Amino acid sequence: MPRVIAITSGKGGVGKSNFVLNVGISLAMMDNRVQILDADLGLANLDVLLGIRPHRTLEDVVLGRAELNDIIIRTDYKIDLIPGCSGTQDMADLSGEQIHNLVKSVSRGAGDTDYLLVDTSSGISTGVISFLMAVPEVIVGVSPEPTSLTDAYALIKVLKRNGYDGRIAMFSSMVKNSAAGHTIYKKIASASRRFLDTPVGFLGSVFSDEKLTRAVSDQVPAIVRFPTSDIARCYRVIALTMLGQNTPQADYDKFWSRLLNMIVRSAKPRERAAESFNGPEREGSLEHTIHDILDEQRRTRFLLERIVARIERDLDSPSRQGPVI
Ligand SMILES: Nc1ncnc2c1ncn2[C@@H]1O[C@H](COP(=O)(O)OP(=O)(O)O)[C@@H](O)[C@H]1O
Ligand SMILES: [Mg+2]
Repeated sequence: MPRVIAITSGKGGVGKSNFVLNVGISLAMMDNRVQILDADLGLANLDVLLGIRPHRTLEDVVLGRAELNDIIIRTDYKIDLIPGCSGTQDMADLSGEQIHNLVKSVSRGAGDTDYLLVDTSSGISTGVISFLMAVPEVIVGVSPEPTSLTDAYALIKVLKRNGYDGRIAMFSSMVKNSAAGHTIYKKIASASRRFLDTPVGFLGSVFSDEKLTRAVSDQVPAIVRFPTSDIARCYRVIALTMLGQNTPQADYDKFWSRLLNMIVRSAKPRERAAESFNGPEREGSLEHTIHDILDEQRRTRFLLERIVARIERDLDSPSRQGPVI
């Protein structure tokens, strides 16, 4: 049975996808078999960070055009990528029985790995909470921005309110140094312990480093592009910390069932998302609509930043060939 871990955050753009990629590669370099799964329905980008273009994704599996093993991409970095997808109208027509059969076949075909790291969407307003409830370990990324802290706390609170009983850990992202990372951890951990009676573990800090931005625009994982850098060391230390932990029991069928349901339901987010919460119906409220809009804005800003960084780099080195983006 693999160790199944979801990486999430209250707020977008904290460095989740880069965490999944670089910690995943670190674990692989330490002789573990690692799969990374892109389940960020809004902004799936592990393929972009790896510089590859998947021809097939989970969509082909859901629609019966491929087996799970057919879509897994062996990368140059010792990790395998399972490319994700968002829901489509075709999926909205799938019956409950079809989804049930799909879960059985996918769950049978999967599992040939030591670690399955799942990159998810951020925020509490999507079907992601229902999915996280089926994952035995959740890692929350938190950056120093005040909204990142409050959103991370809100996420832990929603998990707890829904009865989550797995392991919750966090990493501090984009911090100046270890002390700054630890300060963030203490804030989250003490609030969670005091008000939610929930322990939160600490995996370590990822420093803010322009090398990471360069690696992103070069489409090469930072740990490979700059193996001796501080940021590479940050990811390796976190991988080592994870290796020292035991493996909680995972319910693999339930995991795939919730994952595929999250994808299928995202085809009709307004009508269906409320079902994915165990708690009272929340979707569609003004508060959630505003939250969605703000989240979307953040995503757009990060995409734009990425494009601008890429253009600036290309302007710096005019000899470089190929398209700007
Ligand atoms: N440690 C870091 N140092 C500097 N910039 C970072 C760092 N982590 C993330 N970023 C910036 O934030 C952007 C989003 O990172 P990403 O890993 O895609 O976040 P998420 O998956 O949480 O949205 C990156 O493209 C990069 O510009
Ligand atoms: Mg991401």
